Amino acid sequence: MNPLLAVESITAGYGATIVLEDVSLTLDEGSACAILGRNGVGKTTLMSTIMGQTTLHRGTLGFAGKDITGRPPYQRARGGIGFVPQEREIFPSLTVEENLTVAMRPGVWRLAGVYDFFPRLAERRSNMGNQLSGGEQQMLAIGRALMGNPRLLLMDEPLEGLAPVIVDMLLTSMHRLRREAGLTILLVEQHAERALDLAETALILDRGKIVYDGDSATLLREPERLAALIGVGRAVKRI
Ligand SMILES: Nc1ncnc2c1ncn2[C@@H]1O[C@H](COP(=O)(O)OP(=O)(O)OP(=O)(O)O)[C@@H](O)[C@H]1O
Ligand SMILES: [Mg+2]
Repeated sequence: MNPLLAVESITAGYGATIVLEDVSLTLDEGSACAILGRNGVGKTTLMSTIMGQTTLHRGTLGFAGKDITGRPPYQRARGGIGFVPQEREIFPSLTVEENLTVAMRPGVWRLAGVYDFFPRLAERRSNMGNQLSGGEQQMLAIGRALMGNPRLLLMDEPLEGLAPVIVDMLLTSMHRLRREAGLTILLVEQHAERALDLAETALILDRGKIVYDGDSATLLREPERLAALIGVGRAVKRI
């Protein structure tokens, strides 16, 4: 079986600046992979590169059996890659419902299904984007991506800055997206253990290069190795 996503030896960045070097990653349909690494190592750049929003210097990208290397971002989105960006990018002056419907593309996910999945969004359907709490904004960002009926969902630090109770609720939702909707997920997270619990494989980046590519279970069994790889303590040492 061909993988759903095949990132092959990409070197990418912003203009002449290179951020990622020789990064490869494959994802089978229905699987999930956690992307970990300390701040500034290139996690968001990897997601943006999959979406076609960076400068690609070398390498290829395949999705659903097609070469999407030169495709513009809107074609990748239309082709089935959903993106929940780190900044959430909710439209502040649109209502919750309008934020959802602007992203609508045909498929199993419709407004009613998203409201069933996140009942809180149904309660807030007439509120403006800028009237939402952080947790509600994140539900909306995920709900909006689902409205596009993606086959692959990229989520960039969806739990960042949220209260523990909201983190738990969103993680439960993500587990349901895998189990019930069979969605393929690429998740960037700082909550390493929680991400490794959701995803069966992990990729750890350090300064734009892959320093771990393998099972999540292995990392969960070896917390000291995990801490060393994601640079816990290194930032402190540097100061
Ligand atoms: N638009 C941009 N133009 C130029 N350089 C950028 C741009 N965005 C990010 N960078 C640089 O690329 C490098 C990787 O940034 P990136 O945002 O991918 O890291 P990250 O792992 O997502 O970090 P964080 O954990 O803080 O979200 C950093 O050195 C950053 O300064
Ligand atoms: Mg980032």
